[in-house]
Amino acid sequence: MAQLSLSFSAAFLLLMSCPSWSKYEPNWESIDSRPLPEWFDQAKFGIFIHWGVFSVPSYGSEWFWWFWQGQKIANYVQFMKKNYPPGFQYQDFAPMFTAEFFDAKHWTDIFVSSGAKYIVLTTKHHEGYTLWGSKYSWNWNAVDVGPKRDLVGELSTAVREHSDLRVGLYHSLFEWFHPLFREDAANVFNTTFFPNSKTLPELYELVNKYKPEVLWSDGDGNAPDKYWNSTGFLAWLYNESPVRDTVVTNDRWGLNSICKHGGYYTCSDRYNPGHLLKHKWENCMTIDKRSWGYRRDAQLSDFLTIEELIKTLVETVSCGGNLLMNVGPTHDGRIAPIFEERLRQVGQWLKVNGEAIYNTTAWRAQNDSLTPGVWYTWRPQEKTIYAIFLSWPNTGYVVLNEPLPNQGQTQVGLLGYQPLKWEPASPKGVKVFLPQLTVSQMPCSWAWTLRLTGAA
Ligand SMILES: *[C@@H]1O[C@H](CO)[C@@H](O)[C@H](O)[C@H]1NC(C)=O
Ligand SMILES: *[C@@H]1O[C@H](CO)[C@@H](O)[C@H](O)[C@H]1NC(C)=O
Ligand SMILES: *[C@@H]1O[C@H](CO)[C@@H](O)[C@H](O)[C@H]1NC(C)=O
Ligand SMILES: *[C@@H]1O[C@H](CO)[C@@H](O)[C@H](O)[C@H]1NC(C)=O
Repeated sequence: MAQLSLSFSAAFLLLMSCPSWSKYEPNWESIDSRPLPEWFDQAKFGIFIHWGVFSVPSYGSEWFWWFWQGQKIANYVQFMKKNYPPGFQYQDFAPMFTAEFFDAKHWTDIFVSSGAKYIVLTTKHHEGYTLWGSKYSWNWNAVDVGPKRDLVGELSTAVREHSDLRVGLYHSLFEWFHPLFREDAANVFNTTFFPNSKTLPELYELVNKYKPEVLWSDGDGNAPDKYWNSTGFLAWLYNESPVRDTVVTNDRWGLNSICKHGGYYTCSDRYNPGHLLKHKWENCMTIDKRSWGYRRDAQLSDFLTIEELIKTLVETVSCGGNLLMNVGPTHDGRIAPIFEERLRQVGQWLKVNGEAIYNTTAWRAQNDSLTPGVWYTWRPQEKTIYAIFLSWPNTGYVVLNEPLPNQGQTQVGLLGYQPLKWEPASPKGVKVFLPQLTVSQMPCSWAWTLRLTGAA
């Protein structure tokens, strides 16, 4: 008995001294069992920022280096021949990554005005250049070459000091041309020189130093998660890291882990399934349809319109997703006016319609079964259904086939306006009469929200 109580108190002491000790094990079953911190589903909308040395040539896409020297695609090879001296290497772009106009507070102001609740910055893309002074990226980081500034530090500090937005960091596991990665790849990933000396130390450094609440992993380089020690790292992230309680992460942690393991699902770039997913997911997409990084060769028609962006936001949220909308800043640290305008417009729309977006849940139906372009969200506590319609009908009314009204109880309003008249539609649903508004009386543009209470 005495012995038993001794071992009880020993176990108790051990638990007390390591409160989070081994809660999650380094295997997918355990890692995948972690509930996603609630803030992420409530946030609904974030801003993705692709910035790096690729922002210097700013031609084609952020995959510039690979397209030029990996795949040797003709227009990239021609572009270099025509515009740069012979022998010019990708590394020679780094000193031109100057960021002289980068003002983290100004960026924060733009992000806040968009209505986003989090940002995700590329701290290292597949080129390997780190936007912070990593100890593991010698002479290939923003403190040693280029701006000579800690860009990750400046942005994360400004966002935290001047807004309620959460700071997320993107990090690429692999690097196109890193000799150790190439060596491991040649060994069919039976050796782990690269993850052990580069990727993993860098990830620990990034998390400990900048405490991201989103860790957005990418670029498995066709190597399995075992090679990357992904479950080992994630067990540390969830059990012991300084952000273990609030951090969320995605699903890009090794070959075949996407859409299957990790935190929320991203599945593929621009993923927008149009139906409800049981598992939390995020649609990462970019305002420039053809690139994530800034490119000078973009045409006006390459940028999604505000109508298209609002539609994407609405569809995504109705189906249970978050939208991560990307902008590519310039090499000198500007967010070009076209990106800024789109972001501020999304914010204008959210000012009126945010009630139908933030903190909502997917409803029984995602879109209307009769009227095209009507998407639903709801607030279960308030028993409120939101029907967002993407075009203002010429008929002066909207028929909603899905909500079932109740004569004495149902109330319908237009967000930013006032109560509306309605009648039961036949054979079922609600026919809502829209007010006749002049352009200046419109509560918002691009899409509008009907708010229904007392309907099933
Ligand atoms: C590398 O691993 C593969 C399977 O993952 C195995 O078939 C192969 O024999 C290994 N090669 C070497 C050189 O160890
Ligand atoms: C891999 O993960 C394990 C935990 O499962 C950890 O003990 C080990 O240090 C990790 N390896 C590296 C190189 O980080
Ligand atoms: C969403 O819910 C959280 C937690 O209840 C709250 O802190 C936050 O203010 C809400 N956000 C909005 C926009 O309603
Ligand atoms: C509802 O959305 C789905 C997926 O986008 C689409 O296939 C279907 O046609 C939509 N329904 C209507 C009535 O537009």
